[in-house]
Amino acid sequence: MINQLPAASGLLLVLFLLLHLAGVSLAVLDPLRFEDYATALHHSPWLPLVELALLVAAAMHAGLSLRKWLLNRRAGNSAALNSRRTDPLAALAARSQAAGGLLLLLFLGVHLRQLRWPRPPTGAELATLQAVLSQPLSLALYGAGSLALGLHLFHGGEAAHRSLGLLDPANAGRIRRGARLIALLISGGFALVALVLAAPLALAGQP
Ligand code: HEM
Repeated sequence: MINQLPAASGLLLVLFLLLHLAGVSLAVLDPLRFEDYATALHHSPWLPLVELALLVAAAMHAGLSLRKWLLNRRAGNSAALNSRRTDPLAALAARSQAAGGLLLLLFLGVHLRQLRWPRPPTGAELATLQAVLSQPLSLALYGAGSLALGLHLFHGGEAAHRSLGLLDPANAGRIRRGARLIALLISGGFALVALVLAAPLALAGQP
């Protein structure tokens, strides 16, 4: 059971990431609706509960995954690397799981400090985002975070299904392709949103 918690919490976090990407994409596609969406979200009575669930899932995922990685290392387990020698990207994704996860934690710490504590004032969500992303160092961190997230999901999506016992020879190919497509969508989506918001005059609809 404890071995399946990192996988289950990871899949829950992917759901959050898809919703989060859809929300922040509005900042690029329809800035006015984005402000309305942010205001409505912040006034939702269920938001504190969702945030608490997210915090529990993230802490569980990071803590238990790190524990599993340390136990595997101590046992000298290199199966994931050996089975992927013919696929360099998959090997890189598997090898960088722990380092990428730690980079994501760093990104998340900075990201939440910039945009969640404190939260942007009502009506100033987009302006705050643009101010954050117009700093080159910040933009570089968002780029690195998006890349790390892509690699993390590239390997993690398939690995999570395996840990949950949902992978069999009949569906393995489909699950691998689906997980990789979602990794590309999420990673590329966040990187693109960050780039477009960093250049406000180009596409974000500012006068
Ligand atoms: C272009 C990239 C991103 C943008 C523009 C962005 C934007 C935002 C904004 C504006 C908020 C504050 C929401 C609010 O006002 O309550 C937020 C919160 C948050 N973001 Fe991001 N984000 C990005 C990428 C990411 C990534 C890659 C992750 C995860 C690895 C992430 C995780 C979170 C979390 C956990 C919260 C707190 C949610 C809450 O407590 O309500 N974000 N983000």
